[in-house]
Amino acid sequence: MKTVTVNASKAYDIKIGPGLLSSLGAEAAALGKAKKVAIVSETKVYPLYGKLAEESLEAAGLEVVSFVFPAGEESKCAATYLELLNFLADNKLTRTDLIVALGGGVVGDLAGFAAATYLRGIRFIQIPTTLLAAVDSSVGGKTAIDLSAGKNLVGAFWQPSLVLCDTDTLTSLPLGIFLDGCAEVIKYGILYDEAFFSYLESTGPEFDREAVIARCVEMKRDVVMEDEFDTGARMKLNLGHTIGHGVEASSNFTLSHGKSVAIGMAIVSRASHCSDNDRIIGILKQFGLPTTTSTGAETLLNYAFANFTLCPLPEEEALPAVPVVYGSAESVPLRFESERRFVLAAKGGEDCRFSYTLSEALPAPVREGDMAGTLIVTRGGEEITRLALVAAADVGRIGVWGIFLKLAGSLFGL
Ligand SMILES: NC(=O)c1ccc[n+]([C@@H]2O[C@H](COP(=O)([O-])OP(=O)(O)OC[C@H]3O[C@@H](n4cnc5c(N)ncnc54)[C@H](O)[C@@H]3O)[C@@H](O)[C@H]2O)c1
Repeated sequence: MKTVTVNASKAYDIKIGPGLLSSLGAEAAALGKAKKVAIVSETKVYPLYGKLAEESLEAAGLEVVSFVFPAGEESKCAATYLELLNFLADNKLTRTDLIVALGGGVVGDLAGFAAATYLRGIRFIQIPTTLLAAVDSSVGGKTAIDLSAGKNLVGAFWQPSLVLCDTDTLTSLPLGIFLDGCAEVIKYGILYDEAFFSYLESTGPEFDREAVIARCVEMKRDVVMEDEFDTGARMKLNLGHTIGHGVEASSNFTLSHGKSVAIGMAIVSRASHCSDNDRIIGILKQFGLPTTTSTGAETLLNYAFANFTLCPLPEEEALPAVPVVYGSAESVPLRFESERRFVLAAKGGEDCRFSYTLSEALPAPVREGDMAGTLIVTRGGEEITRLALVAAADVGRIGVWGIFLKLAGSLFGL
């Protein structure tokens, strides 16, 4: 078992290893004061692991009630949230009691938001059962539900009291869902750790689950500790996500989030023209993830940028930067000429000034607060080239894309 400690506004441990679910009761009891525990889970995960969790809690002398909702993103909504709050109240959970989120990111986000708001906040334990939840959503304290206007529009920062990642639970994951999580794992390698990236190249999807999850959690922990409330460094984690959201939304959400992000990372990598582009594309392919899309560039751009109109940045904002493997990075100011027109002016003079106007006809899919973004500078990084600026498309909302695609569309395979 590996333990990673997070020292955010609240300190807590993330424990990773096989068989941890059976220690849930002892761990929950060790947090102290709780008499009752509400397990929050969904219809696919609960039949697999609910009983084990309940038995472990009961063996530790805790009273257990379980709230199980239909699996799927559609359940991460206000109706389920309210149902859950009423369930907690009907079962008389007090401020010293506990919620256990048993499931993937949907359960974690919903149960976490209920924990953040019920009685103005009670403690909760995350038990992530997908790879994505293990390396991403269970770490960092972001909780949320969706509205009909878009994903994750209501939520809170609320850190768990403990995360127990039982790697045995990942064995029941369908391959496609496991690979979705792999896209995020690869992202950490690209962003922060070349040795880790090389290790993944050497193993492919057969990597050591415990070691890889622990390393990803460490990397996310470091970012979260630097920027708990997502105002700067944490935005780096959006690598590939803005274009990925465009791919996902333009597929009408038929393509999974992980695969869309893989395509987003591949596009940004090609665009940045970094010398490690082949490695990045290569590893995504090695993991069975897609790296191209047949969606036209304009459509992709419009979807990718659409949400920006609903959550504009201040007049001028310094954008956080993200290095590709070996790369270097810079921040670039983004200016708004009007609500729908953005200008990026990087150093390098007029040559490096680009603008983009969002189409009025956009269906405007709203996405979560990843509204600032990333700039990737090619290796060496002294000068921001046009190609590198294109990578700033991952910042979203910057018009480099359209212009660049006209100049060199073939590079993207779009
Ligand atoms: N809070 C954050 O920081 C953060 C970060 C990234 C994503 N998210 C959110 O996470 C959600 C996506 O998470 P996800 O991909 O885990 O989705 P999910 O929770 O819907 O799980 C994906 C699928 O896997 C099934 N499943 C889960 N665990 C299983 C297991 N052990 N065995 C078999 N099947 C299992 C689920 O029933 C579901 O069908 C989104 O709502 C997204 O917004 C949140």
